[in-house]
Amino acid sequence: MKFFVDTAEVSEIRALAEAGLVDGVTTNPSLIAKSGRKMAEVIAEICGITPGPVSAEVTATDVEGMLAEGRYLREIAPNVAVKVPLTEAGLRTCRALSAEGTLVNVTLCFSPAQALLAAKAGATFISPFVGRLDDIATDGMQLIADIVKIYRNYPHLKTEVLVASIRHPIHLIEAAKLGAEVATLPPAVIRQLLKHPLTDKGLDAFLADWRKTGQSIL
Ligand code: E4P
Repeated sequence: MKFFVDTAEVSEIRALAEAGLVDGVTTNPSLIAKSGRKMAEVIAEICGITPGPVSAEVTATDVEGMLAEGRYLREIAPNVAVKVPLTEAGLRTCRALSAEGTLVNVTLCFSPAQALLAAKAGATFISPFVGRLDDIATDGMQLIADIVKIYRNYPHLKTEVLVASIRHPIHLIEAAKLGAEVATLPPAVIRQLLKHPLTDKGLDAFLADWRKTGQSIL
C-alpha cells in the first residue's frame, strides 16, 4: 500500500520522507490556506522532496477554468497530480487532462457511482472521503469496500483507490485489508501508527536490565 501524506507543511513531509514513509503527497485548498504560503511555491518545494505524485487542487468550477489551472499546475513539476472535484465539469476536465498524459486525482467522492464515473473519465486516482462520511453517521469504509469491489470487476479500469479523510489508524488498517492501493494520511496519524504502549514498556524494561550489567556496546 502506498502512503501519501495529507499536508502542505514542508517540514513534516521532509521528516517523514527521511523515514521512508512518503510515496506521495496530497494537498487541498484548505491545507494550502493553513500553510500560509503561495500555492505554486509550496507545491514546487514538495515536488522536490518526493518523486511521487503530489496532488494540487484546482479552484475553478468550470471546465475552461479547471483546464487552464490544471495545465498551469502540471508545469510546476512532472509529478504534479491535478486534483479536480467530482462534478460534471471535473470529470470533463479529468478526461481532457488524462488524455494529455497528466496525472489526475478526482476528489470529494462520496458514492460508488461517483467512483465508477471517475474511472470511466480516466482518473489516475479516486479519492473517497471516509472520515467525512463517518462524521455524518454513514459507514465510510463501506464506500471503500464497494469501490474496490467494483473496480476489481472491471480490470480495464486502471484508477487507483486513494483513501482520503483518514482520521485514525483503524481507518488505515481497514483500508489496507480491503486492498486499497493508496492511503493519504495526516502526519499525526502516521505518528499514531508507530506507537504501541507495549513497545515503550518493553524498551524501558530492556534498557533498565541493560544498565544493571554495567556494560556498553561501544
Ligand atoms: C485529501 O486528498 C483530502 O482533501 C483530505 O484527506 C480531506 O481530509 P479531511 O476530511 O480530514 O479534511
